Amino acid sequence: MDPIIVRGGRSLSGEVRVAGAKNSALKLIAAALLAPGQTRIDNVPDISDVATMAEVVSGLGAEVRRQDNTITVDAGSLVSHEAPYELVARMRASIAVLGPLVGRLGRARVAMPGGCNIGSRKVDMHIAGLEALGVRFEFEHGYIDATAPGGLHGAEVTLEFPSVGATENLLMAAVLADGITVIENAAREPEIADLAAMLVAMGASISGAGTSIITVEGVESLKPATHSVVGDRIEAGTFLVAAALTGGPVTITGVDPAHLDMVLVKLEQAGCEITTGPDSVTLLRTGTLRATDVQTLPYPGFPTDMQPQFMALMARAEGGCVITENVFENRFMFADELVRMGADVRIEGHHALVKGVETLSGAPVRCTDLRAGAALVLAGLVAEGETEVTDTFHIERGYEGFVEKLAALGADVRTATG
Ligand code: UD1
Repeated sequence: MDPIIVRGGRSLSGEVRVAGAKNSALKLIAAALLAPGQTRIDNVPDISDVATMAEVVSGLGAEVRRQDNTITVDAGSLVSHEAPYELVARMRASIAVLGPLVGRLGRARVAMPGGCNIGSRKVDMHIAGLEALGVRFEFEHGYIDATAPGGLHGAEVTLEFPSVGATENLLMAAVLADGITVIENAAREPEIADLAAMLVAMGASISGAGTSIITVEGVESLKPATHSVVGDRIEAGTFLVAAALTGGPVTITGVDPAHLDMVLVKLEQAGCEITTGPDSVTLLRTGTLRATDVQTLPYPGFPTDMQPQFMALMARAEGGCVITENVFENRFMFADELVRMGADVRIEGHHALVKGVETLSGAPVRCTDLRAGAALVLAGLVAEGETEVTDTFHIERGYEGFVEKLAALGADVRTATG
């Protein structure tokens, strides 16, 4: 994958439209497995994680077609119930097929996801929740083998932590279970509400999605549906930080501003002016950037997926702040790369102490994960000289046309071959 080259110093302005949310699209593609027939999903981002999920469901026997930003998944007949190691190792979110497979086929074999660059990410809550619904598990040779000998039945499940992935897997299994399932301490992310909306369009009976108690009344079968993916709040937040660093005004469209609540609060505290429309947010900064403490929390708290971008912002703010990461261990790995650009960041456990500096200096840096990669490009926008960002395949996983969109706003950015 070609490096991204950024030359700092340009001010960004104009309008940019965000794609559909990666974290929703991936689960919607998995959910399409629940209904025999052709499900159509619009506003799907053209990113490599979506291509990986398409491979996962194709491997199960679904027929996947893509045209522009529309994907159709024909899950008429499934010929396999296995998500192989090669794909799960490439993308942890492949585990989202576990719930739909046990729901539809009563069995699933999914490679155990290993660790990843943002820490060890366990699946114990997925397992415990599905066990309550009647799934039996065996773990052998690096695989999770799931069967539902007596079929799936509704149950009350309280999650230890509002895990996004566990909530989604439970939801996708519960829609075809016999009886009522109540998921307590469920994740409340907008992507969960989006998944539930598609499942309801497929004939499921779900209430409370988007709140911490979700109730599902199982139905006999689901039918295919058409659904459009919710706008990507994290992509929107990333461009908002780009605007905050360079001044703006930049208008982001295609996103519900309510999904960005806490991000907007923090950007305002940092000295930015925000105006919102029904599906747009505009940011302008005329004064200096102020240091602002942030702690990541499950939605509606400040998203962990915005933490690296916010650290890049705080690296240039006036004063010092503490950024606390409560969701993932190890999500500060990229801070060392930021330090190579002249940032003053000290990591103490799950806190990062960031003292703003007047100038960052362009340097060769390496993406350690998706959001960290985006954050390094953002830092490059305000760094003196040239920043070369390598391992950009991480960025390709989750941002459609990242370089092109930044360039259209006026940034001096290109891929090395371009
Ligand atoms: C999803 C998002 C990711 C986002 C995260 C939190 C996708 C594809 N990814 O990841 O971008 O950063 O939500 O908003 O949608 N945990 C356990 N046991 C479990 C499940 C989770 O201990 O069974 C822990 C994880 O290790 C982590 C925390 O819970 O520390 C949150 O994980 P979770 O909400 O499940 O995130 P993902 O669904 O993996």
